[in-house]
Amino acid sequence: MAGIPVQWWLFFLFSSYLATILVTSSTMKTYIIYMDKWAKPDEFSDHKQWYASMIKSVTSTTEKQEDAAGDEDRIIYNYQTAFHGVAAQLSEEEVEKVQEQTGVMALFPETVYQLHTTRSPMFLGLEREDSTSVISDNLFNSDVVVGVLDTGIWPESPSFNDTGMTRIPAHWKGTCELGRGFEKHHCNRKIVGARVFYRGYEAASGKINEQVEYKSPRDQDGHGTHTAATVAGAPVHGANLLGYAYGTARGMAPGARIAAYKVCWTGGCFSSDILSAVDRAVADGVNVLSISLGGGVSSYCRDSLSIGAFAAMEMGVFVSCSAGNGGPDPISLTNVSPWVTTVGASTMDRDFPATIKLGMGKFLTGASLYKGRRNISSNRLYPLVYHGSNSSNLTPSSMCLEGTLDRHSVAGKIVICDRGISPRVQKGQVVKDAGGVGMILTNTAANGEELVADCHLLPAVAVGETTGKFIKHYAAANRNPTATLAFLGTKLRIRPSPVVAAFSSRGPNILSLEILKPDMVAPGVNILAAWTGELGPSSLPSDHRRTKFNILSGTSMSCPHVSGVAALIKSRHPDWSPAAIKSALMTTSYVHDNTQNPLKDASTAAFSTPYDHGAGHINPLKALDPGLIYDIAAQDYFEFLCAQGLTSSELVVFSKFSNRTCRHTLGNAGDLNYPAISAVYPENGNVTVLTLHRTVTNVGPPVSSYHVVLSPFKGASVKVEPTRLDFTGKRKKLTYKIIFTTRSRQTAPVFGSVTWKDGVHRVRSPVVITWLPPL
Ligand SMILES: *[C@@H]1O[C@H](CO)[C@@H](O)[C@H](O)[C@H]1NC(C)=O
Ligand SMILES: *[C@@H]1O[C@H](CO)[C@@H](O)[C@H](O)[C@H]1NC(C)=O
Ligand SMILES: *[C@@H]1O[C@H](CO)[C@@H](O)[C@H](O)[C@H]1NC(C)=O
Ligand SMILES: *[C@@H]1O[C@H](CO)[C@@H](O)[C@H](O)[C@H]1NC(C)=O
Ligand SMILES: *[C@@H]1O[C@H](CO)[C@@H](O)[C@H](O)[C@H]1NC(C)=O
Repeated sequence: MAGIPVQWWLFFLFSSYLATILVTSSTMKTYIIYMDKWAKPDEFSDHKQWYASMIKSVTSTTEKQEDAAGDEDRIIYNYQTAFHGVAAQLSEEEVEKVQEQTGVMALFPETVYQLHTTRSPMFLGLEREDSTSVISDNLFNSDVVVGVLDTGIWPESPSFNDTGMTRIPAHWKGTCELGRGFEKHHCNRKIVGARVFYRGYEAASGKINEQVEYKSPRDQDGHGTHTAATVAGAPVHGANLLGYAYGTARGMAPGARIAAYKVCWTGGCFSSDILSAVDRAVADGVNVLSISLGGGVSSYCRDSLSIGAFAAMEMGVFVSCSAGNGGPDPISLTNVSPWVTTVGASTMDRDFPATIKLGMGKFLTGASLYKGRRNISSNRLYPLVYHGSNSSNLTPSSMCLEGTLDRHSVAGKIVICDRGISPRVQKGQVVKDAGGVGMILTNTAANGEELVADCHLLPAVAVGETTGKFIKHYAAANRNPTATLAFLGTKLRIRPSPVVAAFSSRGPNILSLEILKPDMVAPGVNILAAWTGELGPSSLPSDHRRTKFNILSGTSMSCPHVSGVAALIKSRHPDWSPAAIKSALMTTSYVHDNTQNPLKDASTAAFSTPYDHGAGHINPLKALDPGLIYDIAAQDYFEFLCAQGLTSSELVVFSKFSNRTCRHTLGNAGDLNYPAISAVYPENGNVTVLTLHRTVTNVGPPVSSYHVVLSPFKGASVKVEPTRLDFTGKRKKLTYKIIFTTRSRQTAPVFGSVTWKDGVHRVRSPVVITWLPPL
């Protein structure tokens, strides 16, 4: 096995989902069909009947020859709120026929989305606790309901205790779906709804084995429990993971309600299920949707999450999504639609230090969440071994992949393992199984110095790339290298922090440079929150420990922080649109760390840019009182799509429900009233002046006066007109222009900011200028 090249391992890992789908459904696949709601012929009493008849008409001829499965079985979902149409199983020939039917506007094949934790093979998690909850207790009861699309919920967690909460809000129409391990009493005034969506998953992967997996809202993965508790968990004193991160755990909006929509199963999260969950959630009356998962970015109009989120936004629902864990590579973002809030991840000021003492006497530091009987063994040195070469090439055995370590050369030793390909905790398991006494997990260039602390089953310390190289060199250059490990617990007030996580996906936005993404960063490294009772904290089947809390990392963890703060803003300002809430979050965020220096990037230790951190790090208290907001109505987002040049057949999924048409009010996609500003010079070098427009709405004191402050810009002169905005009333809107004049075309993007100040509020927008290279 050691001989299998790395590329093959990658192939096995990533093709496993695909293989399941191909094997279990030979000819039929699931398609999501978008229908023109208004085209229903009168002969059908309702849409469901019409859709069923339409599917029947294309399937009946083929069905006769085969054994007659009912046509009803072909339809796995009817969508009626955020989306209109059905998900149905069809053969390729039937797909062609469907496209000719009246009322069929668009058709998409099923796709698979993944959760954005760093348990995904490419990334590893660090551990930290959540120290950002500084929200005043008078927001304790709230009628805001946050829908969490995830792996379900573990209702026994103390984070979902509803003691002291008022009755379920009157507007709530959701329900609790019961099933194995999930009964009526598992919903309460905190968990106000719980539903399951598995028909798309089963159509592709076969029936869920109910003995092995809960076909109910109960969460056996832990991810959904963790994200839901981060959004709106009740305060729990003395929360910790094996003694680490001890303190009070609470969600960002402890007074808000949670509705769990379980869309992810052991084999992934399927688009027809996700879309159905968004559809139901909007009908149920959620105010905020928290979605810590993503798929590939194709286009605004073919990604079902993007389409579902558009409709949710039209109905006033704020949608927060994880940016993805594809960093530090550029252009690695998912969930980039302007109507969703795209959240990247950053560190907090908490750390879990551990030390490595080498036989030569040198001490090095790393991070660990290991909790064994004690230190590995007081001061005894163990032989140290690394199964890689001293070139920087990774090999299956240097990464301690399963089956690559030989007991003979590992037993009784501390093993150095490179990060990559397999989950971090699994490497620890591989070392343990081969008789190793400890592990040093080293970062590679992809992770830089960002430390990853996991709940390993054996003593293990994670180290940065530089430290890792030093240790590997020591191990290679000495005949009898030795080391020992020591664990120092939890340290607070780490500086600098926050730092943008190396794994956090980076801009620019591949679909439109005019929309700067990600929107913001929030804590996503070493987050302590509630956990399932079904799995140990390492998530390994061999881990028999059970903990009420776990520490995870990923943009999956940062997204629910923003969802929770959005819920707070929504309870304070019930009439604000999703765009207003996003604007408040973005314009109040900060771009400095706790050493008063600009935010840094963990992968390079250099300053991060808006392509890494968006508008900056969320500042929940400030976001409740932003002074001014950049509002955007649903029709404005639609005009943005028109300006992007989408064809009418592509626009149909956004236009049909509300009969929207392009009024061409937006000359330039960069004129969308976004709280971030992106000026894109065309390839034609003759264009030297660009003018963008923005409109701000006063949500602060009725009479207020703002003046503009501009950062310096390289390569261009930037002017704002007017430079003063005098408001004479609440909700008054004023418009300004930003004029960019090229001084010298730059090959790299140029970053800066526009800030409006009234002496109390600072309304800051990041600015990026891009000169497209001449053709
Ligand atoms: C919920 O919290 C209350 C008050 O803190 C406590 O008395 C009660 O035992 C808790 N219930 C559960 C099920 O933990
Ligand atoms: C690799 O290790 C060998 C033996 O210790 C040494 O001679 C060689 O210079 C090293 N190569 C690199 C690239 O460090
Ligand atoms: C582990 O070792 C470190 C350094 O030698 C020491 O500070 C710490 O107290 C030890 N921890 C335990 C639990 O023995
Ligand atoms: C859209 O148009 C249809 C008929 O074309 C009409 O019945 C419906 O009321 C319109 N809907 C809206 C929201 O304007
Ligand atoms: C730029 O301007 C020059 C002079 O006016 C003109 O000859 C040239 O065709 C222009 N280039 C483009 C790409 O429009």
